[in-house]
Amino acid sequence: MKVLVIGGGGREHAICWKLAQSRHMPEIFCAPGNAGTAMHGRNVPIAANDVAGLRAFAQQEAIDLTIVGPEDPLCLGIVDEFTAAGLRIFGPNKAAARIEGDKVWAKKLMREAGVPTAEARIFEPTAQELVQLRQAHRGDDFEMPESVETGYKMALRYVSTRDEGVVVKAAGLAKGKGVFVHDDPADALLTLEKLMVHRELGDAGTRIVVEEILIGREVSILALVDGSTIYVLESAADHKRLGEQDTGPNTGGMGAFSPSGLLTEKDLEIIEREVFVPIIDAMRRMEIEYRGVLYAGMMMTAGGPKVLEFNCRLGDPEAQPLLMRLKSDLVDVINAVIDGTLEDIKLEWDRRSSLCVVMASGGYPGAYEKGKEITGLDDAAAVENAVVFHAGTRRVGDRVETSGGRVLGVTALGGDLQKARTTAYEAVRKIAFDGAVLRGDIGMRVSGR
Ligand SMILES: Nc1ncnc2c1ncn2[C@@H]1O[C@H](COP(=O)(O)OP(=O)(O)O)[C@@H](O)[C@H]1O
Ligand SMILES: [Mg+2]
Repeated sequence: MKVLVIGGGGREHAICWKLAQSRHMPEIFCAPGNAGTAMHGRNVPIAANDVAGLRAFAQQEAIDLTIVGPEDPLCLGIVDEFTAAGLRIFGPNKAAARIEGDKVWAKKLMREAGVPTAEARIFEPTAQELVQLRQAHRGDDFEMPESVETGYKMALRYVSTRDEGVVVKAAGLAKGKGVFVHDDPADALLTLEKLMVHRELGDAGTRIVVEEILIGREVSILALVDGSTIYVLESAADHKRLGEQDTGPNTGGMGAFSPSGLLTEKDLEIIEREVFVPIIDAMRRMEIEYRGVLYAGMMMTAGGPKVLEFNCRLGDPEAQPLLMRLKSDLVDVINAVIDGTLEDIKLEWDRRSSLCVVMASGGYPGAYEKGKEITGLDDAAAVENAVVFHAGTRRVGDRVETSGGRVLGVTALGGDLQKARTTAYEAVRKIAFDGAVLRGDIGMRVSGR
């Protein structure tokens, strides 16, 4: 069988690596892939969000199964387009992926479903106001249209009345750069102006959610959903901040581990009952069928677990330790989700722990240089129980170079978290590239504000 994996990060390398062990012995394609995915199959130079290009490729190659890694193509409706063309694909359709792609919609859905989440106010211009705003931005002299000013002013007025901190969230996809936690509400005023008036995130930031700051431990819970059955995966946790002890700017993720050890069985039961079941039911009432991975970003507050956001795909880097612990055949698991037979299969997990250390380019998450030669990859791969997942890498002749912010996700299995850590860092120490940045404290502690 032929399988196409869409994306080119560490998550997608882990998916290809896991597929390569399948008893179905798939021929693997990855678009656009990286130097790591190329070790398991053929990279295809098509961007992950070129939906039409990917569909044409899948048809021409007669791909049997497509697995979508990142959120952008899902939110663009790649699943609908493939399905309409008679192609088999894993992931939620456009209507369901909106749970990640539109935070205003997701907040309304959570309210409708009675899912615990931060108290929030929504500010969104009407469709007509949006058109006026876009037009006003075309000229050199920007003048805020009268009608739009009212919506923005409402947001300003609301935030001005708050004497506690607020979180301002752009509704649309913003690659992790659309959420602003302001301990002082006065600072939020400027964020509103940047998003709503100057459109710094384009359309993604013209509709916004303003919500209360939640305090607690942050955890991610991932589940497989096949339309009706919900299967909560083993727990995982990531480290979002660049610096050790969870300091510095937010990143795509500097490391992750599984199990997280942060949640009890009872917590998981509560989250399944109060979050996953009602949200899937609410979507079904709207005739939206959810198939794929549903990821709940949660804050464990004194008042119970509350949802920060939903994602419509596997997390990166959480996917790396999770897939390393999955013993079941990934093709079988994915087929069960697509066919709605999740109830009939049992997922097997390695009881050991797994931990992933991300090595990033110097400067990340800001500007960074590419094209640095990476050495020691073979030595690292030779470390027992360690796997080097590539993210921003590319092969140039016989050398491997950096080509992105997050470069590698060095992942290891161990009898316990401590052992997995030791092995992962042992492999990390074999690898070198100019300016490499990493955290030495992955798995040591997880943030609580
Ligand atoms: N209500 C909130 N209270 C406290 N922190 C929050 C809140 N909402 C988001 N955050 C923080 O901001 C980060 C990003 O927000 P999130 O809603 O996950 O959006 P995205 O991942 O799309 O950027 C979260 O991981 C969390 O650390
Ligand atoms: Mg998030």
